[in-house]
Amino acid sequence: MNKSNIIIDAHKLNKKFNGIPAVIDFALTLKKGEICGFLGPNGSGKTTTLRMLCGLLTPDSGEGSCLGFDLLRQSYEIKRQVGYMTQNFSLYGEMTVKENLYFIARIYGIKNKEEVVDFYMKRFNLSSHADQLTANLSGGTKQRLALTGCLLHKPKLLLLDEPTAGVDPKTRREFWDEVHKLSQEGITTLVSTHYMDEAARCTRLVYIAYGQLLAQGTASELIANSGLSTWVASGSNLSQLADELRTLKDIEQTAFFGDKLHVSGQDPVLLKQAILPFQTRYSWENIPPDLEDVFIHLVTQAEQNL
Ligand SMILES: Nc1ncnc2c1ncn2[C@@H]1O[C@H](COP(=O)(O)OP(=O)(O)O)[C@@H](O)[C@H]1O
Ligand SMILES: [Mg+2]
Repeated sequence: MNKSNIIIDAHKLNKKFNGIPAVIDFALTLKKGEICGFLGPNGSGKTTTLRMLCGLLTPDSGEGSCLGFDLLRQSYEIKRQVGYMTQNFSLYGEMTVKENLYFIARIYGIKNKEEVVDFYMKRFNLSSHADQLTANLSGGTKQRLALTGCLLHKPKLLLLDEPTAGVDPKTRREFWDEVHKLSQEGITTLVSTHYMDEAARCTRLVYIAYGQLLAQGTASELIANSGLSTWVASGSNLSQLADELRTLKDIEQTAFFGDKLHVSGQDPVLLKQAILPFQTRYSWENIPPDLEDVFIHLVTQAEQNL
């Protein structure tokens, strides 16, 4: 593989807080232009990992490189070439849009800052908000501003931490169109999210729980490798069916998807036996699990192994 195409190459990254592990033996290889989705329950270590990868937090142990720079020793160089969008909006509310962007441009020592800020304000429809106080912006505009702030110094890698949390579907879609456009321009992205539709927009996914990387691959690889067997039930009174099935040991999970119920288990034969008594009251179809079924399965397994 061409080495210059490797953007992140990290191995055995560990981080503890007050003696408690937050990230355990994390490894990731990311190639140029990839859009990698980073998923996992709250508290699983996503933000900690992103902060280690962009040079803001030093790993306790491990090794690797980001953009060719050493993760443990060259954090300054890494920070200059990475765009990091924090989980919580971190620009100044009492400054205008333009003032915030000029401020960031000055921190990065961008020479032609008027030109650069103007270019990105136009690209992200911020020009009409230029003199508005940031605190008064709508959620979607704040999010575009935060993304713009990450791009001014022309980073090669974007680390986006739940960038669309609480944003409406149309705005989220526009945001993802931008991420794909940036990817075509050669920018690599690692983006944490809880949204399944966003996971489906990524070229690759990484799933983490309890600080441990549990699975990675394309969405279809994760589904195929999950070892999960799923049946979908339809009919009336599915809530009652779900209540009854949940008590059975060979049923790992049940989940509603619209007017259908997904019923999953790890052993296809035992699962089929478990649903047999309900064959006449409901109609059943064997399907590949949904990505969400797979993620719940991964967490369930991780809990069992704790
Ligand atoms: N600065 C910190 N000090 C102490 N504990 C922390 C700190 N940052 C994160 N943690 C803990 O590390 C774990 C992982 O947190 P985090 O990386 O924020 O997870 P996520 O982003 O997946 O929600 C959590 O248990 C969290 O409480
Ligand atoms: Mg987080």
